[in-house]
Amino acid sequence: MKVVVDRTKCTGHARCFEADEELFPLDDLGYALRSEFDVPPGAEATAREGAAMCPERAITLREESP
Ligand code: F3S
Repeated sequence: MKVVVDRTKCTGHARCFEADEELFPLDDLGYALRSEFDVPPGAEATAREGAAMCPERAITLREESP
């Protein structure tokens, strides 16, 4: 699974960070730091939670084929 963050939509709500600080780190201004990254094994549910919590719908998930 891959997380894609559209940083042009991020307005710094930090809900993703509240879901998981390691998965969704913020930059010095409080915006999502990483724009695209692989979800570590076992963290899929947390990634989904973080994506669902973003009010700007800036976070999307890409399921990869096995
Ligand atoms: Fe930005 Fe959404 Fe997270 S607005 S800081 S990606 S909750």
